[in-house]
Amino acid sequence: MRTEQPTPLADVRETAAATAVAHPNIALIKYWGKSDEKLFLPRTDSLSMTLSVFPTATRVRLAPDAEQDTVVFNGLPATGEAERRIVAFLDLVRERAGRPVRAVVDTENTVPTGAGLASSASGFAALAVAASAAYGLGLDARGLSRLARRGSGSASRSIFGGFAVWHAGTPDAGPEEADARSYAEPVDAAGLDPALVVAVVNAGPKEVSSRTAMRRTMDTSPLYEPWAESSKADLADMRAALKRADLEAVGEIAERNALGMHATMLAARPAVRYMSPASLTVIDSVLQLRRDGVPAYVTMDAGPNVKVLCRRVDTDRVASVVREAAAGGSVHVAVPGPGARLLDEGV
Ligand code: PMV
Repeated sequence: MRTEQPTPLADVRETAAATAVAHPNIALIKYWGKSDEKLFLPRTDSLSMTLSVFPTATRVRLAPDAEQDTVVFNGLPATGEAERRIVAFLDLVRERAGRPVRAVVDTENTVPTGAGLASSASGFAALAVAASAAYGLGLDARGLSRLARRGSGSASRSIFGGFAVWHAGTPDAGPEEADARSYAEPVDAAGLDPALVVAVVNAGPKEVSSRTAMRRTMDTSPLYEPWAESSKADLADMRAALKRADLEAVGEIAERNALGMHATMLAARPAVRYMSPASLTVIDSVLQLRRDGVPAYVTMDAGPNVKVLCRRVDTDRVASVVREAAAGGSVHVAVPGPGARLLDEGV
C-alpha cells in the first residue's frame, strides 16, 4: 500500500499525460477461476510468456474540465462493457491518487479483441502504466502488476517481459492482505530459446466471456477442483523445467495444463466449449509434427485459436505446417517480448 500523501488537486498539471505500451502474454500454466471476483484474486498461481507481437499503446491525458471520461479504442469511441471496465479502472486509480479529475484514454490495440488472445492483458497493463503515471501514483513494477490485475487478471503478468508467475496470494487472509500479495514477478528462463506460433482460426469475438465461463466452471464443473489441485504440481514442474531450459518438458506441462483447463469447461453445466473443428485440425497437425520428431506443443485460452510452443530454430517448419492446417486463418510468430513500459510523460 502507498503511504505518501496524494498530491493536492491544485497541483495537478492541467495537461498531465502519459503513454505506455504493453504486449499480451500467453499462460503456460493457466489462470482459470477467481477466489474474489471484485479484487480479481485468482484461485491458482499461473505462469506465462509475454509475447513480442500484438502491442497495445495507450495514452491517458487528464482532462480537468471534463465531467466524464472519454475512451477511444482504435480511433472509435468505446461503448458498453469495454468502456465500463476502463472507467471502473480509472475510478480505482483516482481513488488511490485522491484526484477526482477525469481523463481521455486513447488506445491502439493490434490484438484481435475477444478472441482468446489476451487483448485484455496488454490493454490493462498499458492502461495501468499510463494511468499510474498520469495520476502520479508512483508505483513500482509490483505495484503496477497489482493494479493491472484489477482491470484483468492476466494483465498482472504483462507488466513483465519474458516469463512471469502470478501469485494467487493468500485468498483466505482477508481482502487487504490478499490484494497485497497477489502480483506477478519475473521468472528466469535463461537458456530457453522458445517461439510461440499463434494460429488465429477465428478472429471474431467469443460467445462466452472468460469471466462468465470461469464462474460457471468453478460453480458447476466436477473437474474444476482436481484441475486446480493438479495445477499446483504443474507449476512446480514448470519452474523446474524452465530452470533447466528443457523445452520438451515445458511444452508437455503447458499442453497438459491447458487441455486440463478445457476439460474442466467441457464438464461445466452447461458446457463451455471454445475449441472448434479448426482448432482440432491445428492440434492434430502439431501431434503429427511431434511424431515426425519436431518438439511442438499446444496451448489454448478462452477462444478457438491455438498457440504452438516450439524451439526457435523450428519456427519456419512449425509455422508452415500450422499455416496449412489453419487453412484460411492467419499465423503469427512470437518470441519472448518486453514488459510494459512508459513511452512518454508530460504535456
Ligand atoms: O483475460 P482474463 O484475465 O479474463 O483471463 C483469461 C484467462 C486465460 O487466458 C484463459 C488463461 C490465462 O492464464 O491467461
